[in-house]
Amino acid sequence: MKHIRILGISGSLRADSTNTIILKTLGSLLPSDITFEIFEGLDEIAHFAPGLSDTGQVIRFKTAIAQADALVICTPEYAFGVPGTLKNALDWTVGTGDLNDKPVSVISASPLNSGGNNALASLLLTLTALGTKKNDGSALSIPNVKSKITEGRVTDAYTLNQLRIQCNNLLSLIGG
Ligand SMILES: Cc1cc2nc3c(=O)[nH]c(=O)nc-3n(C[C@H](O)[C@H](O)[C@H](O)COP(=O)(O)O)c2cc1C
Repeated sequence: MKHIRILGISGSLRADSTNTIILKTLGSLLPSDITFEIFEGLDEIAHFAPGLSDTGQVIRFKTAIAQADALVICTPEYAFGVPGTLKNALDWTVGTGDLNDKPVSVISASPLNSGGNNALASLLLTLTALGTKKNDGSALSIPNVKSKITEGRVTDAYTLNQLRIQCNNLLSLIGG
């Protein structure tokens, strides 16, 4: 059977990001024979404008996507939207179709009760425009995220189960 590789992307650049913790936790819940890597350096990707050629970091980003069988994106919400750094990176893939038919899991974690629902909805729209492969189970909103993490680890049983469901759904999208 083909070796499965999954690429994680965090929409937060903060060193102790709760979204990155969620992402790492999801990675730890995947079967051990799956390679899970988090893309580093989202903030080194040039500002997108139509007509610009792919530069070093853009090429690195697109290569990481091409080598992955699926993506997990976990992002905070800023001012009811997707962080600009993440949206900028995704905009580079519009013209070249790098995410076309790529299975995705999309998560938004927030310290608020809303769970970053606006960012999640916006990101799902963008990922629809990019032709990604997803279904009704591909999105997860995590409210009050700080209460679900202890010493850098997700300790909330319900959230851990929700992340396991995301893993299983993503694997079914890869297989299907
Ligand atoms: C400029 C700014 C705007 C924010 N806007 C929102 C928002 O619209 N909705 C929300 O749920 N949280 C908002 N937050 C709070 C973030 O969700 C919170 O900082 C979160 O912990 C960031 O995720 P991270 O821990 O992964 O970095 C905002 C934070 C900042 C700094």
